[in-house]
Amino acid sequence: MITYHLSSDQPVGVFDSGLGGLSTLKKLTALLPNEKFIFYGDHENAPYGSKSADEVRRLSLACAEKLMFRRVKAIVIACNTATSASAKVLRAYYPFLPIIGAEPAVKPAVTAFPGGEIIVMATEMTLAEEKFRSLCDKYKDMADIVPLPCPGLMEFIERGETDGEELRAYLEGRLKPVITGRTKAIVLGCTHYPFAKRIISEVAGEGITLFDGNLGIAKELSRRLTESGLAANSSEKGYITFIGSGMSEDIEKTTEKLMELEI
Ligand code: DGL
Repeated sequence: MITYHLSSDQPVGVFDSGLGGLSTLKKLTALLPNEKFIFYGDHENAPYGSKSADEVRRLSLACAEKLMFRRVKAIVIACNTATSASAKVLRAYYPFLPIIGAEPAVKPAVTAFPGGEIIVMATEMTLAEEKFRSLCDKYKDMADIVPLPCPGLMEFIERGETDGEELRAYLEGRLKPVITGRTKAIVLGCTHYPFAKRIISEVAGEGITLFDGNLGIAKELSRRLTESGLAANSSEKGYITFIGSGMSEDIEKTTEKLMELEI
């Protein structure tokens, strides 16, 4: 039998289909500066959002395996799409490991704007999966939840385009038409989208609040590490190791750019 030892000095593994999970990672490192992190981007197989749930499940298991091989003490699925397809399976595979997933921040948006109209921008898969449908069922009496699939949006961020005319034109075409006088909030239900926060907010117009789930994920990781006695107990500053499939110089440059961007 193979035994897998967990201890506080091991790193936390974080994965995404690409670079979107960096928006989550930034919150994790801000809240838990003494932790070590390994970030795995599955660039070769991105995007996940237009694939089948079975395929994303298979890919997510492979990402988790890569992280387990590096002896992580917890896994953060920094991807709403991968969480929808694979969180259950990953938890069944590694029942001894804290596994934290991502889900669109519908609850905080609905709580802040009861009775309002709330747009949820996410991948096609996230919006089609059971996890999102049950979230909507839970809050449907509190607000009007409008799902907005955004195919092609993550690719802008993957290219490091967090601004610019092309991105603006994309948002004018896709987001603008669904904004009404009753729109109170937009939930960024994909970890790539917080990098485009500024321009999304500009296109949406004044008086519309943006929500994302990253701080919630960071708090949940902190809670789970403390509860299981796995929180780093060194006062030394942690560090991040970036790995992934299909790594290239361009990806490294974009990683640097996105890690420096204030969001
Ligand atoms: N970053 C991912 C998410 O949070 C998805 C992007 C993709 O691979 O389509 O849903």
